[in-house]
Amino acid sequence: MNTSSLLTDLAKEAFEKAGVGEYPVILQAAKNPQFGDYQINGVMPAAKKTQQNPRELAEKVIQFLDKKNIIQSLEVAGPGFINIRLDNQYLNQQVNLALQDSRLSIKPSLKGEKVVIDYSSPNLAKEMHVGHLRSTIIGDSLNRIYQFMGADVVPQNHVGDWGTQFGMLVTYLIEQEQKSESEFILSDLEGFYRQAKQKFDEDEAFANRARENVVRLQHNDPEILKYWRKFVETSIEHIQAVYERLGVLLTRDDIFGESEYNDELPKIVNSLLEKGVAVDDNGTKLVYLENLRDENDQPGVFIVQKKDGGYLYATTDFACLKTNIQDHHATHFIYVVDSRQSLHFKSLFDISERAGWLPDSVLAEHVAFGTMMGQDGKPFKTRTGGTVKLIDLLDEAVHRATELIQDKNPDLTTEEVNQIAEVVGIGAIKYADLSKNRLSDYIFNWDRMLSFEGNTAPYLQYAYARINSLLARSELEPKEFIVEFAYQEPLEQQLAVLLLQFEEVLLQVIDSNNPHYLANYLYQLATLFSRFYEAYDVLKAPDETKLARLGLSDLTGRTLKQGLDLLGINVLKRM
Ligand code: ARG
Repeated sequence: MNTSSLLTDLAKEAFEKAGVGEYPVILQAAKNPQFGDYQINGVMPAAKKTQQNPRELAEKVIQFLDKKNIIQSLEVAGPGFINIRLDNQYLNQQVNLALQDSRLSIKPSLKGEKVVIDYSSPNLAKEMHVGHLRSTIIGDSLNRIYQFMGADVVPQNHVGDWGTQFGMLVTYLIEQEQKSESEFILSDLEGFYRQAKQKFDEDEAFANRARENVVRLQHNDPEILKYWRKFVETSIEHIQAVYERLGVLLTRDDIFGESEYNDELPKIVNSLLEKGVAVDDNGTKLVYLENLRDENDQPGVFIVQKKDGGYLYATTDFACLKTNIQDHHATHFIYVVDSRQSLHFKSLFDISERAGWLPDSVLAEHVAFGTMMGQDGKPFKTRTGGTVKLIDLLDEAVHRATELIQDKNPDLTTEEVNQIAEVVGIGAIKYADLSKNRLSDYIFNWDRMLSFEGNTAPYLQYAYARINSLLARSELEPKEFIVEFAYQEPLEQQLAVLLLQFEEVLLQVIDSNNPHYLANYLYQLATLFSRFYEAYDVLKAPDETKLARLGLSDLTGRTLKQGLDLLGINVLKRM
């Protein structure tokens, strides 16, 4: 149910009748509930354009505005805003409808859309590190939200499993295997990479063998492929273990690595050349980007094949995009990748359009994000300046949460503590990230993210547990909360209004691909609920009032649970 679009339709009709139908209504949720629940802001600009007195025009719009059973009152404010107060019975009916629906009345409005979401996508040469965190959790949240809104989502983990580094790794693996040390050595991928790299840098003969093996790999030499597969397999086991710990949805079936498109690459380059999109510049195949000029106003250059015949990371992306549109009929692409690759994606989309692979009907978006910073304001590193392994970060979060939970609640058994700490620790890391606008850098702060106060996962998880215990103490069945009741108290009304805005918020996330709108909504909901709970009796209130208040509490709890789930965060009934 979407009150905002209902109100917009009613206001549009009134604008038409008042003779300003061509101007936008501009409806917003009110900032200050004292004056109303929603506000129409479109009268002033319309009055200006038609040279009318804005307050008079506002009065006229109000006369024509059909309140139905939705609006209780309308009022002109300031220079020509119109404040809308929703009808209390309407609010109660909508709350009751949401309570009877497992989807909380949210329409799956993206039915029929096929959305490819490329996220996580680490390079398999090394272990996952903190640099992979943001793509993984922002992408996973978008995956959940698009699915919930009815889209057919195809998650794609475009892992880096191809290229020159793999020649080096495979060569090292072959040579270690001959010394029969590989089993041991692959158990530490990071160490393995370091040693291979060192050998590559120091041993010219080894480096040459590695280069030969890259070529053999590119020609699908079965012997080399065998070792390549072994390496990739080990690495995939590692990333899947991280995903499981982190609670993200990605499975092995979602892996579509760079290597997958190997056979397509010559066709891609030929096709770009034939279409005149790419040119052959002394053996290098490249595309000039007239629309993407550099600081000296020179067209950008995008290489699709190197002089030595080698292909690049970039070429793979064409094959991937083309396959997804032609074979899988994708209608929307979302690439959740670091802001630093924004030129790559601009070029990719521009060239794909020119080549006819990306029709206007398909939306392609680069969902960029900033960097996770340490306390010193520089990219997050270990104390000694090394990269932090993702799995170590998760372990530390759970470890810190364990201590907090033990302190807070010494009566819990070890098993209970561990269970809560896992949910709180992982949730805290995810929420700290998802609650920020993805485009900005943010400072990673253990104490803040694990605090039970403020805009944090533990605060929201705790709010959920509290509501759950309230409902349990009522000793009533949730269906008994569904009563006809016109809310009397301001905080009852405000809570109902906010609860009914869940769908609007989800649509805002879809529009912007920014889950922080959802996070902030949940925080607002939890704080409003706590004010409501402090202000009024629930269990001690008289019959109907008690049931209606329990209904509001139940819907708050379910909205928190659903909302957190869409962020990939778990809740517990007891904490
Ligand atoms: N593997 C790449 C990296 O680590 C990210 C891939 C993003 N996805 C894509 N389709 N290009 O930088």
